[in-house]
Amino acid sequence: MQDNLILAIETSCDETAVAVIKNGNQILSNIVNSQIKIHQQFGGVVPEVAARKHVENISLALKLALNEANINPKDLSAVAYTAGPGLIGALHVGALAAKSFAFLYEKPLIATNHLFGHIMANKFVTNLEFPLLALIVSGGHSELVLLNADFTYQILGQTLDDAIGEAYDKVARVLGLPYPGGVEIDKLASTGSATYPLPEVKTPNLLDFSFSGLKSAVLQLILREERENRDLNIPNLARSFQEAAIGQLLEKTKQAIIKYQPKHVVLAGGVAANSYLRSEFPKLVIDQLETKLTIPPLYACTDNAAMIGAAAYELFKLKKFSDFKTSSYPSSQALL
Ligand code: KG4
Ligand code: ZN
Repeated sequence: MQDNLILAIETSCDETAVAVIKNGNQILSNIVNSQIKIHQQFGGVVPEVAARKHVENISLALKLALNEANINPKDLSAVAYTAGPGLIGALHVGALAAKSFAFLYEKPLIATNHLFGHIMANKFVTNLEFPLLALIVSGGHSELVLLNADFTYQILGQTLDDAIGEAYDKVARVLGLPYPGGVEIDKLASTGSATYPLPEVKTPNLLDFSFSGLKSAVLQLILREERENRDLNIPNLARSFQEAAIGQLLEKTKQAIIKYQPKHVVLAGGVAANSYLRSEFPKLVIDQLETKLTIPPLYACTDNAAMIGAAAYELFKLKKFSDFKTSSYPSSQALL
């Protein structure tokens, strides 16, 4: 059978990324041009700046991805792009690049959901089994999703307020750490101990998440220590926050495994790069249940186009192509 080759473009936030994926799980190239250094001076992603940088970077990223994959555009099976969720101006750049490319080379176009992409990043290390439970944890999302083999799905739980990555980034900002704060807190936490007590979170639906109370508790704690002239032990605070935030993810995921008994549980999204989550996640094995647990490779956790190519391959098999009128969407829509 002829190889399937998908050119994938991801520009939903602050990474200009282009990849070429063979047969759904082989990475021929994976170019990620990060804008982090630019946004760091503002303490977070500035949407307008992100869109402008994508415009500047997308052509080179496309060229590099095709060169590295050693692919003639004529041999591509389809062109995929992230249609949402994400920053709308940023998304439009990737959408336009993909449409122009697909139009020029007369290739099918595949509008792909960013979160479906994060889940499909697990295909780079294993075959997916269904029903599959995905813990999606990123800068904009914290969700437990149960997927069937035909990709129909059910959202079992979601955050009632902040996403976990957002909470990480806000706490880091108060501590004066650079953007994106998640990775900085993670580094500090590994040298500290969880000495600061933080409140346990309760949500009416057991599988929902909440992180804003935790974030406020950290801010209150910092103010209290300042008021009482006590030195703040930042590594210990980072560790306390990390154990509470990740602990919540683990607890809810465990409850979902017990209730729904999925065959496979995967991590997905930027926070899947967290070292504590990665070390604790394999412990979610529950006696009597044969649950396979998978962590995506580090390179495929934070935003990248390889995962979009992996997801688009599934849509290709289902013949879910998009027409040229398809627009981008800033907030969550159906996974496919
Ligand atoms: O998936 P992603 O790259 O972008 C979105 O789709 O949002 O996720 C970015 C988020 C940021 O909030 C970042 O701070 C967080 O992932 N993150 C981490 C770590 N690495 C990235 N959070 C905790 N620990 C990490 N090691
Ligand atoms: Zn993402």
